[in-house]
Amino acid sequence: MKSLKQEIQRRRTFAIISHPDAGKTTLTEKLLLFGGAIHVAGAVKSNKIKKTATSDWMEIEKQRGISVATSVMGFEYDDHKINILDTPGHQDFAEDTFRTLTAVDSVIIVVDVAKGVEAQTRKLMEVCRMRHTPVMIFVNKMDREGKDPFDILDELEDELQIAVRPLSWPIDMGDRFRGVYNLFQQSLDLYQPSKQVVTESVNLDILSPELEKHIGVELSEKLRDDVELITEVYPEFQRDEYLAGKMAPVFFGSALNNFGVKELLDCFVEIAPSPREVQAEERVVDPYEEAFSGFIFKIHANMDPNHRSCIAFVKVCSGKFERNVNYKHVRYNRMMKFSSPTAFMAQKKEIMDEAYAGDIVGLPDNGNFKIGDTLTSGEELHFKGLPSFSPEMFKYIENADPMKSKQLQKGVEQLMDEGVAQLFTNQFNGRRIIGTVGQLQFEVIQYRLLHEYGAQCRWDPINLYKACWIESDDAEQLADFKKRKYQYMAHDKEGRDVFLAESSYILMMAQQDFKNIRFHFNSEF
Ligand code: G4P
Repeated sequence: MKSLKQEIQRRRTFAIISHPDAGKTTLTEKLLLFGGAIHVAGAVKSNKIKKTATSDWMEIEKQRGISVATSVMGFEYDDHKINILDTPGHQDFAEDTFRTLTAVDSVIIVVDVAKGVEAQTRKLMEVCRMRHTPVMIFVNKMDREGKDPFDILDELEDELQIAVRPLSWPIDMGDRFRGVYNLFQQSLDLYQPSKQVVTESVNLDILSPELEKHIGVELSEKLRDDVELITEVYPEFQRDEYLAGKMAPVFFGSALNNFGVKELLDCFVEIAPSPREVQAEERVVDPYEEAFSGFIFKIHANMDPNHRSCIAFVKVCSGKFERNVNYKHVRYNRMMKFSSPTAFMAQKKEIMDEAYAGDIVGLPDNGNFKIGDTLTSGEELHFKGLPSFSPEMFKYIENADPMKSKQLQKGVEQLMDEGVAQLFTNQFNGRRIIGTVGQLQFEVIQYRLLHEYGAQCRWDPINLYKACWIESDDAEQLADFKKRKYQYMAHDKEGRDVFLAESSYILMMAQQDFKNIRFHFNSEF
């Protein structure tokens, strides 16, 4: 029997993020393979695994083949409990990914060696930086021609604005790729371009003449020079710096060929953080506290299309969550107990009896939860850190079936609670505006309103550049601003003032003319 402390300490909860196609899915599946969570070595891309390893509960997801869902995959590895939180690859669901990042203790970023840092990665890294999330980087596809590894390191540093330190170093690339030298463990990992075979690893000092036997004279010299340069140029790896989100260790490999993945995982379980303190509005919550607390970071609709049931994903922040024990739903100020909470182990969902800080629990829900809700053993706590970002696309939502206005109202409300998109109500004419980060969300909303609520909506165009939350200590100026911009003032779901700017120029002018007003681009200010 492990103590509460031991249970929590051995947990590693993280997300893999990348630009689409860099290899996130492939890496996830390889990690599951090491954890014994799936058993079909090498069949990475077989649809069977793809389907089961990533959840596709929603109809729409099946239809479109896009992973709308953010699912959770837990497995045991080396006496650690690993929880991987999957994030949707499609950029239209970036908001979902942002929220998932609030529920993890660290992140692995996958970068394609040929493409380097891409847009989506840059954006997600901003969120990590904001939260000081520890980050590890896996440079993938070394079996293909790509950029020079030193150039990649420079690019990572510049683009992601984080200090980097390679912990493994590639020996050539593309067709000539021979493997990596593992600087963390001082071993030579030879590459076998096979999907079935796990890395062959030789413990070796880089100065040993043995090296030539494995990779020849020329590559040995180059490797020794490279490693010398690394030691000179890059500061020594410091775990504290990594944990503070200031330095990212970098690994090289090929997820598809299962190369460098085990090394990444071994280093990950050693250095990645166990559950960390979480800031609530009232106080800092320590994961090792006996009392349970957690928050909802994701609501997933309609796992069973015949019922309009949702699953609310709870990140356990402290203590232990138990089945059939009463917990306080803080927003409702009501005790609730859950008879069938689910744990996520690999591709399966199963009823669980207990979960510890770091774990994710799925609670069947019929509209009781909203994103950001807190559950506790009884204390009045509110967890912070679930920002809504200023959306990038806007449309008026109108009722297309007058007989179903109630259904539409309810549907829109619930979908917004789930965090599918954001709702703004124009203060001038009362029209409702939906803001999203991508076109696809409008389609998702329309589809779900029809299939889950029997309501029909129509989209009317509106020309907007950004919605920003405004506040000021200067009541007079704020009132003046609201009066002058009355046609462009809206309320968000919480009733806060939001300014709808038509263009970047108008926004800039507003910022210039109203110096005492603060314009915020995310809801958490
Ligand atoms: P994503 O989740 O980040 O979007 O990427 P995913 O893992 O789906 O990988 C994108 C493509 O890159 C896939 O090819 C995958 O096989 C390939 N890939 C992943 N890792 C490596 C690697 O280390 N080396 C090489 N050469 N390719 C890699 P695809 O053609 O899109 O899919 P499929 O036809 O292989 O299923």
